[in-house]
Amino acid sequence: MIKKDMIIAICGFGKMGEALAVGLRKKEVFASGNIHCTTARASSEHRVTEHGFVYHKTNPEAAKEADIILLATKPGTIGKLVQEISTVVNNKQLIISIAAGVTIAQIEEKLKDNQPVIRAMPNTPALIGEGMTVISKGGHSTTDHMQQAESIFESVGKVVALDEKHMDAVTGLSGSGPAYVFLIIEALAEAGVKVGLSREISLLLTAQTLLGASKLLLETNAHPALLKDQVTTPAGTAIDGLLALEQGGLRTCLINAVVKATERAGKLGKN
Ligand SMILES: NC(=O)c1ccc[n+]([C@@H]2O[C@H](COP(=O)([O-])OP(=O)(O)OC[C@H]3O[C@@H](n4cnc5c(N)ncnc54)[C@H](OP(=O)(O)O)[C@@H]3O)[C@@H](O)[C@H]2O)c1
Repeated sequence: MIKKDMIIAICGFGKMGEALAVGLRKKEVFASGNIHCTTARASSEHRVTEHGFVYHKTNPEAAKEADIILLATKPGTIGKLVQEISTVVNNKQLIISIAAGVTIAQIEEKLKDNQPVIRAMPNTPALIGEGMTVISKGGHSTTDHMQQAESIFESVGKVVALDEKHMDAVTGLSGSGPAYVFLIIEALAEAGVKVGLSREISLLLTAQTLLGASKLLLETNAHPALLKDQVTTPAGTAIDGLLALEQGGLRTCLINAVVKATERAGKLGKN
């Protein structure tokens, strides 16, 4: 449970750090004054303070007073960040990392024994409160820590807990997934232009169709094949479209994309 007087330190107030800070304040998980943030450049301070959050010049200064420390810098700088805060953190504090490819063990080995650590993988729709986050429990974190992490990421969307062994796959699917979807949206909108629609109308039709189809699946809990069949009337239009997609190898192409991104996620933490 997250108590009213708790402080969260967000080390790395970038795209994800900011999305989480804004979501946490909006859902009243933390008050603005209890959200403490850091950035690499002092010139980024105004991005923090204009929201009413507290800015700290250094990571140890932010981490020292916090109950929960969120590591939200790029994967390549996480090692240095953990090293920096290692002298001020203790096992009463929870550390949550959102860095792609960085394992719980890699974080724990830089810290004192019994440090609670949770790894999370959100995605960019968190920026508008529609994120998908997977959280994984470290060896020294408790059920209460997992509930705290759940409350944090629920402020920006849906959350599920999975064993850490699935994190590279999660990174390849939902973590990187918005990029695939934007490419699909771009391509479908181009197709609309090709068949005579304006670009603006094509984009609206495409994005709302993806949103509606996703909501229909989530709300009915129906199998995608069944929902596909409902659109596909005998000798109708959709079956011709589907045939073209299968001939073009869309299914294989998307599977390959996730496999490649998963492999890359596995290499990120090792660099
Ligand atoms: N973007 C995604 O789709 C996504 C999805 C899931 C997970 N993630 C993970 O989220 C993390 C952040 O990604 P992002 O897209 O939010 O990156 P980002 O927008 O580039 O933000 C990184 C932030 O870290 C700050 N920073 C860099 N070094 C620092 C240091 N030593 N101390 C404190 N702050 C420091 C930067 O400061 P300045 O503002 O001064 O440059 C910047 O605000 C990554 O580890 C990534 O793997 C990202």
